[in-house]
Amino acid sequence: MSHATTTVDRPSGEALTSAAAAAGYAPSILNTQPWRWRLEPGRLELFAERARQLTVTDPQGRLLTISCGAALHHARTALAAAGWSAHVTRLPDAGQPDLLATLTVTGPTASTEVATRLAQAIPVRHTDRRPVSDRPLPAAFMDSIAVAARAEGGLHIFTPGQALELAVAACRAAAVQADDPRVGEELACWTGTAAPIGTGLPTGVLPDHPAQTTVPGRDFGQAGTLPIGSGHDQAAVYALLFGDTDEPVSWLRSGEALSAAWLTATTLGVSVVPLSDVVEVIHTRQTLRRLIAGLGYPHLVLRLGVADPEQTGYVHTPRLATTPVVDTSAQRPV
Ligand SMILES: Cc1cc2nc3c(=O)[nH]c(=O)nc-3n(C[C@H](O)[C@H](O)[C@H](O)COP(=O)(O)O)c2cc1C
Repeated sequence: MSHATTTVDRPSGEALTSAAAAAGYAPSILNTQPWRWRLEPGRLELFAERARQLTVTDPQGRLLTISCGAALHHARTALAAAGWSAHVTRLPDAGQPDLLATLTVTGPTASTEVATRLAQAIPVRHTDRRPVSDRPLPAAFMDSIAVAARAEGGLHIFTPGQALELAVAACRAAAVQADDPRVGEELACWTGTAAPIGTGLPTGVLPDHPAQTTVPGRDFGQAGTLPIGSGHDQAAVYALLFGDTDEPVSWLRSGEALSAAWLTATTLGVSVVPLSDVVEVIHTRQTLRRLIAGLGYPHLVLRLGVADPEQTGYVHTPRLATTPVVDTSAQRPV
């Protein structure tokens, strides 16, 4: 990432386009990448892409908006590393609910080492569904991840007792979804070879059999080709991103917190896997709300743990090309 010179007080369209391109690496529910960017002079606008919303499992758009929040934080991180400070306005226009945020560059700034490290983590970060190693997550690592997340939103770390309740809720959520053929059909559209090009989950990132674990991961309805060893991720820690409300602006903030936590985790060699089925099912979402009584509304569960250094050869999920996702027409001379 290049450092902006102090003689320039407006970023070129290129810096903003690069930030939007970096945002394309963000995590998203079933790799739907449900966002669209519009480049305006000195500003990026982030829109929800409803054509890629999961209408069965995410009718309210909670997971879509969290995904867009992660993309927003990725763009912020890329701009900061390139030496630009920016101002974010979330949900700026009540008349345009799909306009989730504007990112306006306010001027050049000195890029920090932290910003550079986080930006370097953007293309490296990925979801690794294999069991984590037996090594306990160092408290200092968890603290750094929590500080990063809490700068953006709410993060609760489950106690071991709460993790067992979470496990029961996750089993229940999986059973509810397995009973609903519409969920299976929607999953099938976004997994394996059925997914549209550049989106969805290839079989290479899906476990070849369910991993031994305390809290079960999502049942994708099909076995993949990702070899799962015999390890049990008993050293995993579980956490919950939550917000003050169960409304879009709060979901967006949780997505930004997800990105901040995950990029920080990546720099520390910590694996993060979101577990959202337990939030998708209303009854288990209510269980989570009770578990964090008084704190707020549950948005997304995370599994964290020290990545197993012996597990290599992970396949990265594909991404859409930047061109159809970033509209630069407002920048072109007429
Ligand atoms: C809101 C949200 C919910 C997610 N839920 C799950 C989940 O339940 N299970 C899972 O294995 N991965 C989940 N993921 C991870 C995505 O599948 C992953 O980010 C996407 O496929 C892109 O892959 P990558 O993270 O390796 O770049 C979720 C991600 C987000 C942002």
